[in-house]
This record gives sequence, structure tokens and C-alpha cells, in this order.
Amino acid sequence: MTSIGIHDIELATTHHLLDLGTLAETTGVDPAKYRLGLGQDEFSVPAADEDIVTMGASAALALLDRNGLDGVRTLLFATESGLDHSKAAGVFVHKLLGLPPQVRVAEIKQACYGGTAAIQAAVGIVQRNPNERVLVIASDIARYALDSPGEPTQGAGAAAILIGVDPALVEIEPASGLFSADVDDFWRPNDSSTAIVDGALSISAYLDAMTGAWDDLAAHGGPAITAIDRLVYHQPYTKMARKAQARLGEHTGVDLGDDGLVPGAIYNRRLGNAYTASLYAGVASVLDHERDLVGKRLGMFSYGSGSVSEFLTGVVQPAAASRSDHFTSVLDARVPLSVPEYRELHARELPSNVDVETPRVTEAPFRFAGLRGSARRYERR
Ligand code: CAA
Repeated sequence: MTSIGIHDIELATTHHLLDLGTLAETTGVDPAKYRLGLGQDEFSVPAADEDIVTMGASAALALLDRNGLDGVRTLLFATESGLDHSKAAGVFVHKLLGLPPQVRVAEIKQACYGGTAAIQAAVGIVQRNPNERVLVIASDIARYALDSPGEPTQGAGAAAILIGVDPALVEIEPASGLFSADVDDFWRPNDSSTAIVDGALSISAYLDAMTGAWDDLAAHGGPAITAIDRLVYHQPYTKMARKAQARLGEHTGVDLGDDGLVPGAIYNRRLGNAYTASLYAGVASVLDHERDLVGKRLGMFSYGSGSVSEFLTGVVQPAAASRSDHFTSVLDARVPLSVPEYRELHARELPSNVDVETPRVTEAPFRFAGLRGSARRYERR
């Protein structure tokens, strides 16, 4: 059977960050609630000239610089921070990267699950045309109302993932477990720039979906829990992975402990929630921080509120041994905001019918230059 999976993966994030200690000082919350209770240290905040396109294009540029463009005929952009009801954000990326016209581009949405849906579609395309590779971009900005319980779980980030045959990084195994249910745990109406969330329901819906997807994986010939070496979960905040691991342990009757979760949380503790990119930031974090994973099996749980979820497994391939944690220096290079500066950026709304030029802030390869005639304009720096 053809081996298909993740050939390479690259992450990108924003120019700014907000330290949760700084937020705690202003709001009078015990900082331990954020660091221990939620398992978060910081979150990324986009500058006025950054968005899902600039982050996604930056991640994809580095990915394609390493791997070339050969065989890339599809770009799938997964996001729940959509910029337009009609045009796929990936079309802007297609231009910014100078991709040839012979590339199909589309956007995929189902909350944080969209990245996994794009990967599964990519696997299908590659199965049919093994000479092709698919560029998947998962890019999101998590925004909740100020002073809401969700505020400390905001964040932003992108993952660019190259899917192809004989993958260098992670072979995705054919069996997967699915679980979908119509539930009002988290959503964002078309006229709202922040998400609506029922926090307690979202946690129980996530955990129920996780055990449901696990059971479906088992029913479809997936591996035993004892044959999985590392579990990586969608991490809206990293404590959620601990809750999921504890529930899966109870469900399978095997004590899974917590220690194995530490490497997969290193980037996410600092990025915050990156929605579609969150699981893949966790996967990259594991691969970048553990040196002896080649030949080992990853279990990957993807949850998208609303809800659709999937349990995947994959076997780590030799290129993982030479990964570096260079993304740590990207996280370190972000510029911290004061709480008033963060709030000013948070309050910024761009009506689509007013021409605007954004200030030059980002030092990323691409910037969002503004709106003209209701159309978004981007430029390479
Ligand atoms: N020291 C240490 N821990 C503390 C503490 C302190 N001083 N004060 C509180 N805590 C702990 C609490 O005990 C709690 O721990 P447990 O979860 O283990 O019980 C934790 O901190 C959170 O505190 P609260 O229970 O008081 O919860 P909250 O009102 O702050 O809300 C939340 C937490 C519901 C996650 C909220 O942040 C939220 O709504 N976030 C957005 C929704 C979300 O992320 N849901 C996750 C599942 S849905 C999903 O995964 C999709 C997605 O991406 C959104």
C-alpha cells in the first residue's frame, strides 16, 4: 500500500504577544490560574498588518523553500477566521508565493477540525495521483470578548503542511476514528468578530467526541492504546490535553500519565489557541523537542466545535531526527504588548467599505497593506 503522510511542517505566528502574567496583573486574577489552571503562559496577537493570510503565507514560504514546488497542484486553506464569504484566503497566498496558475485553491471550514479535513482531502488527492503533493495551510486567529472567560485562551498561528507519498516526517495510517454531533458549544456568527462559547459544554463536548472518535478508530482496526507512543490533542489551552488524556486513560483502562504531554505543549503554551493550526503546532512541538521518536506511533486527536472530530494515527519517519526547534526563536522574537496596547488592537474593526492603509509593523515576509475598493491588498516586504 502507498505510504502517504506529512512530508514537512512549518509554523508561523504574529509580531506581538501578550504575557498572561501582565493580563493577570491588570485583571486581578491569580496568575496561577492561567499558568497552572489553563496551562498557558502567553498568547500571540496580530499586528494591524497581519492576518491569517500573512501568517499562512509565511509558514508556506519557509516550507516550499525547503521542499520546492514539484508536484504541488493543490493548496487547501483551512480556517475558521475567514476573511470573505466567497474568496478563499488561499488565493491571496497563491499570489504572494508566486504559485503557478495550475494549482487548485479552496478553503475548508469546520471550526478547529478544518486542518484535519484538509489533510484527509489531501491524502485522497495524493492516493489518486501519487506524483502530486498538496500544500495544506491551517491558519487562525482566536478572538473572544474582552473580560470573558475565553480571553486568556486567545492566540494566533499558522501551520503549513506538505502532504505526499513516502513522507519524510509522519506516515498517516489509513484507519481513523470519526465523531460528529450538532452541539452549540462554540460558534461565531457571520456578523461577529468574536466567538460565542459555552465553556463547560465545550469541554464536555470535546471529551465525549474524543472517546467517541477513539471507539470508532478501534472499530475500524486502529491500534491498541498500548501501541501508541505519544498522544497529541487539539489544545485550545494545554490543560485541555491533560483532561483528554485522563479521560482516554479512564476509557481504555490504561493509566496514560501526563509526562508524555509535555513536549507537545511547549509551542502551544506560548502561541495560545491557533484553532485549525493548534493540533499541528502540537505535532510540530513533539517532533521538534523529542529526538528518539523515529519508528514510534503518534495518536492525534482533532476537535472542531459544533462539532466534528477525528482520531488519527501516524508513524514517525527518519527526517524527524534532524528537526530543530527554530520556532522557539520565532516565539522569542515577538514583541510584548501592554494591556492597553493589546486592547486597542483587539478593538480594531475594519469595515469593508472604507479604504484604509495599515501601519507598517510586521517583520514577517508578507503584510496586509489594507483595503481598497473593498478588496484586500497584500504585499511582500
Ligand atoms: N491556581 C491554579 N488553578 C486555578 C486557579 C488558581 N488560582 N484558579 C482556577 N484554577 C483552575 C480551575 O480549577 C480550573 O481547573 P480545571 O479545569 O482542572 O477544573 C481552571 O483553572 C479553569 O478555571 P475555571 O473552571 O474557573 O474556568 P473559566 O471560567 O476560567 O473558563 C474555559 C475556562 C471554559 C476553558 C474558558 O477559558 C473558555 O471558555 N475558553 C474557550 C473555550 C474553550 O477553549 N473550550 C475548550 C473545549 S472546545 C475546543 O477545544 C474548541 C476550541 O478550540 C475553542
